Amino acid sequence: MAAGTTTRRRTAALLGAAAVLLPLLTVTTPASAAPAAPGRAAPEKAAPIVLGHRGASGYRPEHTLESYELAVRMGADYIEPDLVPTKDGALVARHENEIGGTTDVADRPEFADRRTTKRIDGRNVTGWFTEDFTLAELKTLRAIERLPDIRQHNTIYDGLYQVPTLQEVIDLAKRLGRQHRRTVGIFPETKHPTYFRSIGLPLENTVIATLKRNGLDHRDGRAIVQSFEPTSLRMLDKGLKVPVLQAISTAGAPYDTVANGQGPTYADMVTPAGLKEIGTYADWIGPEKSRVIPLKADGTLGTPTPLVRDAHAAGLKVSPYTFRNENQFLPADLRNGTAPGDYGKALKEYDIFYRTGIDGLFSDNPDTAIIARTAFLKSRS
Ligand code: G3P
Ligand code: CA
Repeated sequence: MAAGTTTRRRTAALLGAAAVLLPLLTVTTPASAAPAAPGRAAPEKAAPIVLGHRGASGYRPEHTLESYELAVRMGADYIEPDLVPTKDGALVARHENEIGGTTDVADRPEFADRRTTKRIDGRNVTGWFTEDFTLAELKTLRAIERLPDIRQHNTIYDGLYQVPTLQEVIDLAKRLGRQHRRTVGIFPETKHPTYFRSIGLPLENTVIATLKRNGLDHRDGRAIVQSFEPTSLRMLDKGLKVPVLQAISTAGAPYDTVANGQGPTYADMVTPAGLKEIGTYADWIGPEKSRVIPLKADGTLGTPTPLVRDAHAAGLKVSPYTFRNENQFLPADLRNGTAPGDYGKALKEYDIFYRTGIDGLFSDNPDTAIIARTAFLKSRS
């Protein structure tokens, strides 16, 4: 039986990471989940956790130690490394294995001949790929801002920071935890796991071994693993005790489903039956935020779907992605002006989502996520 499964089933009542971290949050007043029944105290709902998405990627080039450290200093409960492998099998933090848009590799003549086109998850992708570089070679590169048009201010850091390994992210989380006298969790995600398995660089065993070696294989919430692909999550669940999150996109199907010709689409996953199935290997879902509150045809925010309620009924916690301050990523009615990179009414968006009963959220701007959480918790106390 899967290492995590026995405890997972026992933990429909598991308060999970949020409960572990609750005393350590800036605001410790728990949100009330439901009105008190006569003669009974109101049940307490743990405060939603804030996940520093790719670190504090609204303020630093994503997936760098500097981005993660800033997220922690801003109060993020977790930092979130996406994981891809190098040629020699090291796990490094990048959202994509193609690194032309997030490093200075295109300006390195010594690597010009590594530029190539590959088929990744059914798409042709041209550029430079982590699996064609040794870790030592990758360490000579420097990170650049992925969204320079939207986050021009972050380009000031271009060329300064390295691509970190998973081990370095863990070491950072431990060091910052000691420094700030609180738990700093990590939330690693396997990227393109079917593809990497197909080229002989599977991710899962290395994730399992690394978490075990670092004493993180527990259900105490210091580490939670995630992926879009259920096959990868089932492997991680089998090898680890840590909680598991199933990421759920806006449309389509995870690539393992596409490759195998069977398995759930993302639409299947958000049905009650799909959520029940996810509950056999996972503890959380991480839906794209429009699956919690869709946009209307005019781009303004609509009304919540039953997803949070249905997920909770299936014993799953819910942490939607991705919250960002800029107009480009906000509903039309929460923008300030029309410039895509200007900040909109992000605090309002957080507040609306916290009120749906979510258990956490992924944010590029952990400071604003926490400011909004503080106000939300105060309003509920
Ligand atoms: O699991 C939620 C989140 O990590 C997915 O976002 O940025 O990795 O595509 P992203
Ligand atoms: Ca991610």
